[in-house]
Amino acid sequence: MRIKEYEPLAPLTTFGIGGVARWFAEAASEEEVVEATAWARERGLPLFVLGGGSNLLISSVGFNGLVLRVALRGITVAGAPHNAESSGQPAERIYQAAAGEPWDSLVERAVRENCAGIECLAGIPGTVGGTPVQNVGAYGQEVASVIERVRAFDLREPGFVEFTASECGFAYRRSRFNSADRGRFIVTRVDYRLTPGGAPTLRYGELERALSESRRDGSLPSLTEVAASVRRIRRAKGMLIVEGDPDCRSAGSFFKNPVIREELFQEIASRSSGAVPRFPAGPGAENAGRVKISAAWLIEQAGFQKGYRLGNAAISSRHALALVNIGPDGRGGATAAEILALAGQIVARVEARFGVRLEMEPEMVGF
Ligand code: EPU
Repeated sequence: MRIKEYEPLAPLTTFGIGGVARWFAEAASEEEVVEATAWARERGLPLFVLGGGSNLLISSVGFNGLVLRVALRGITVAGAPHNAESSGQPAERIYQAAAGEPWDSLVERAVRENCAGIECLAGIPGTVGGTPVQNVGAYGQEVASVIERVRAFDLREPGFVEFTASECGFAYRRSRFNSADRGRFIVTRVDYRLTPGGAPTLRYGELERALSESRRDGSLPSLTEVAASVRRIRRAKGMLIVEGDPDCRSAGSFFKNPVIREELFQEIASRSSGAVPRFPAGPGAENAGRVKISAAWLIEQAGFQKGYRLGNAAISSRHALALVNIGPDGRGGATAAEILALAGQIVARVEARFGVRLEMEPEMVGF
C-alpha cells in the first residue's frame, strides 16, 4: 500500500477547500484498512478517515497526520434472512455495499432493480460509508430505516465489528459514529434492506406536489420517477453536483434544522407573517413537545438573502441553508476561515433575532 506525502485535500471535497494531508493513503480492502491504521498507530500519528468529502470543511492548515481514504468497492445482493415471502409480503433483499461505493450509484442500481427504500435519497453526493455516520436523510427517507447492519473496524480494540441498526444509535443527522463513538470506528460495509416491488415513500410535501403535477391520473409513480423527481428538485436547489454549477461547491446543508420547544416555535410564528415551515421533531422521548423548524427560513427571516456574500464565501443563490465557496470570479477560492466567518455572522444574527442557536452540520477538520 502506497503512502503519499503532502497530498492536497481540497480536490477531494465538494467544498473544494482545505490544506494538505501530511500523510495520505487509500484503502481498497479491509486488509489495507488494518495496514494503514497500524502504520499510523506505530508512528503515533492522528488518523482522519475520508469518504466522499461531501460533508466536510478542512482548514488551510490541513491535517498533520494520516488521511485514510476509504476506497473499498463492490455491491452484492442477497435475499434477506427471515424473508416474509410466505406471508404474502414482497421478499426483501439485502444490498451489501462496500463503504467506498458512491452512494448515488447504489441508489441508481436499487431503483433500476425496482427495489424500494432509498429512492428519495437520489442525487446525494458522498459514499456509502458516510451514510450511517450522519444518518443521511432527504425527501421523507432516512438511511436509518433501511440499514440492516454496519460493518466497521474498531480502532480502540483493533478488529472488525458489526452493528445492527438499533445498535447504531440513529437520530436526526446523528449516530454513535458521529457522537459517543466519534473517531473510534471506520465503516467498511453497510447492508441495506430493500423491498423489491415496494411502493415509493411519498411523505415530503414538495416531492408529492412535484409528482402529482406530472401524474394527473393519481396513480402511484414508479421508483424511477420518484428518484428522477428528487434529482430535479435537488438540482434546482444547487444540491446536486453538476459540473460548472458554482452553487454546488458546498457541503450541502451547512446547518441542521433546529429542534425547538413548541412554545418557542409559537412565539416565532406569532411574530412572523405567513406560515412558518415546520417538520416533525422525530421519535424519542427527548423530542416530546418539540418541533423541527426550517433553518433556511430562519436565515432568510434574519435578513440574509440567497446569494449574500462575505469575502469569498456566499450563501447559495438557490438555497439559504448551503454556504458556497464562491471566490472572486465564482470559480472558488474561499478559505475555510472565510466560510466560518460567514457562518458565524449567520449564527449570531439568527440567535439575536429568534433565540435559536444554529448548529453546523459538516465535519470540521484541522481546526
Ligand atoms: N426554505 C427557505 N429558504 C430557502 C430554502 C428553503 O425559507 O432558501 C424553507 C422553505 O419554506 C421550505 C423549507 O425551508 O419549505 C424546507 O426546505 P427544503 O425542503 O429545501 O429542506 P431543508 O429543511 O432546507 C433538509 C435537509 C436536506 C434535504 C432536504 C429535503 C437538513 C439539514 N437538510 O433541508 O439535506 O435534502 O431537507 O429533505 O436536514 C443535507 O443535509 O446536506 C441536505 C441537503
